Amino acid sequence: MQLKNILNLVLIFSSSLLLKADDLSELRGQKLYETICFSCHGNKLEGATGPNLKDAQWLHGNSKSDIIKSITNGFPEKGMLAFGTLYKQEQINDLANFILSRQEGLRNVKYKIYHDLRLNDKVDLGQIKANKERLLQPPHFNPNLPEVNQFAISFTGQLLIPKHLAGKFVLAGVRKQSDGIDLYIDGKKIPFPTSKQHQIKIPIELRAGTHDIRLEYIKDFKSTVFFLDLVGKETIPLTSESYRRSITSSHIPKAENAFLIIRKRITQAPPGSIIVNHMDKISFAIDPKTSDVKALWLGKSLDIGPNIYARGQQFAKPLGTHLLSAEQSINLFINEKPAKLKYIGYSDKPLPKFIFKSSEGEISLQSKIENNALKLSYSIKSNHALDINLKIPQELNTKLSKGKTKNGLFTPESPQDFFISIPIKELK
Ligand code: HEC
Repeated sequence: MQLKNILNLVLIFSSSLLLKADDLSELRGQKLYETICFSCHGNKLEGATGPNLKDAQWLHGNSKSDIIKSITNGFPEKGMLAFGTLYKQEQINDLANFILSRQEGLRNVKYKIYHDLRLNDKVDLGQIKANKERLLQPPHFNPNLPEVNQFAISFTGQLLIPKHLAGKFVLAGVRKQSDGIDLYIDGKKIPFPTSKQHQIKIPIELRAGTHDIRLEYIKDFKSTVFFLDLVGKETIPLTSESYRRSITSSHIPKAENAFLIIRKRITQAPPGSIIVNHMDKISFAIDPKTSDVKALWLGKSLDIGPNIYARGQQFAKPLGTHLLSAEQSINLFINEKPAKLKYIGYSDKPLPKFIFKSSEGEISLQSKIENNALKLSYSIKSNHALDINLKIPQELNTKLSKGKTKNGLFTPESPQDFFISIPIKELK
């Protein structure tokens, strides 16, 4: 055998050894992840009380050293232990490798908007100057970004396919026009059906790793409707959730009850808070540790509506009119103490409902829009009689279920079921 061949063999052998070592580290990391981290970051790293760990949004950086630092030091004031005191450095390294191996979806998406282009113009978008060019943070496709009526838009970026999902996918989505939407993956055009069919369902095979992705869209319909997911062992969304919600909700006859549950860090609420947006009428954040209602605001929510990301806002900031100041909140008191709760989860059918447990029983909080007001209904199941109060900022205009109010402390007549209703139109 020639020396070159031997060298090649050695190279192949050692690189497969290397791969194996990486795989093993990821596997060990996964085991550790599944013993504890999943409880806050979700079984599939999708996020729960802790943030999503597989998408493009990171609060503390997504380099390996950032992730190791996050795990080692934790965020004790926000509920996450400093795992450096619990795990060896090697184990933390395994955890970081596992998290990195699960990164998925779009990254570095840049969009370009071209004003006043029509389908018949048959232009090559790569050859003409765009009116606007921005990086989209978080990265996703949202063809409703432009502020003009007639436009073309192109998105370019990368698509990450993690090893455990690699293989067969279906590009699945909906579009309301049969021409003028082109998708390219690794430079290859994905053949959309040419019929007027609105459903898109295209089988596609994607290897693990980074792919180039480009979407071009020339508007040819009175409303811009296009969305797309990669459906495989798990679904990787390509279009923005909020955009999708905004178009699908317009097809729901009772749009009044459409809502969106968003996990995003906002300045007005503690980390881990969950935001409920009732279709841009009114929004609030719930602190899952206490069920406190924080940051109540009227009008537009966070990432709904055109061009919000293009305004250079790095952190999500509630828009609209605030009904509560940063210090104010609506707090539940059990037996005269601020409620200390364990967050169980939420359901979103048919209405947003958050479920908590305390040593005293089970508590749920449901929100809905009724008579042009936000109605927050509490339901408390316990084996014994409880002293229940709701502390409500006095400036807040509210309507309450039967009960007594004294010094901003509301005592419901029926502590099992009571509500607070906040009118949407009237500002404080
Ligand atoms: C009790 C809940 C909880 C547990 C358990 C937990 N975390 Fe966290 N984690 C959080 C919260 C909350 C944050 C967000 C901190 C903030 O908002 O600044 C976080 C943040 C992180 C971040 C930074 C994310 C970012 O966006 O920058 C990483 C990485 C992370 N956790 C990894 C882990 C790993 C690995 C484990 C298991 C060893 C784990 N966490 C266990 C609650 C938890």
